[in-house]
Amino acid sequence: MNSTEATLTYTDQFVEPEDDAQRAARHHSEEQGVEPVDHAAASWLRWFAGLRPATDVVEIGGGLGYSALWLLAGMHPRGMLTTIEVAPERQAHAQRQLAQAGHGQRVRSILGAALTVLPRLADDAYDLVFVDAVRTEYPNYLTHAQRLLRPGGLLLVNGALGAGTAADARSDDETAALRTCLGTIRDDPTLRAQILPAGDGLLVATAAGRE
Ligand SMILES: C[S@@+](CC[C@H](N)C(=O)[O-])C[C@H]1O[C@@H](n2cnc3c(N)ncnc32)[C@H](O)[C@@H]1O
Repeated sequence: MNSTEATLTYTDQFVEPEDDAQRAARHHSEEQGVEPVDHAAASWLRWFAGLRPATDVVEIGGGLGYSALWLLAGMHPRGMLTTIEVAPERQAHAQRQLAQAGHGQRVRSILGAALTVLPRLADDAYDLVFVDAVRTEYPNYLTHAQRLLRPGGLLLVNGALGAGTAADARSDDETAALRTCLGTIRDDPTLRAQILPAGDGLLVATAAGRE
């Protein structure tokens, strides 16, 4: 084992173990070709959702419900997760799994394209927005997230390292959009951001002075 692997093994000891529902959701996502958020990043989702804890959360790109289970695990017991998913069979499956795991009353599952659904959500009404859908739309999600978040709210962006592409000179559409989104966040004096090296990178941002 080299030192990088040894370090990862060491830091993995701090990653919360999956419960049965989370494990099943991850396996099912992988079987269906829906890429779930990395386990270590998922553990961060729970940590951030549990900070205050969050009562109102938006998830963009629900998949089969893996990340939703982690967000719900951290959120306030009476909190409500609004999750947006464009594929009907995925949305229906996630809704069933979340209900079976006892979260039926805590989830508002919306079927639709994120950029159609997001404009219907209220301003200044959410504690946390988690972004995990179409990379080329990340800059647009950012605009909506800034409108949706309450003062001190958190923006979490999955895949911030773009599987290594965020840091190199490639310029395909996905990489360009990811760089635009991350650059906008970095250069915005009203935002304070960090990228956690969990999974494919989890960017965390909050409005400076509004924490
Ligand atoms: C990476 S997966 C999400 C995985 C999920 N967050 C998890 O960790 O379990 C991305 C999801 O976004 C959905 N998606 C793709 N385009 C979308 C859009 N325009 N609006 C909403 N969801 C979309 C895909 O169907 C897919 O399920």
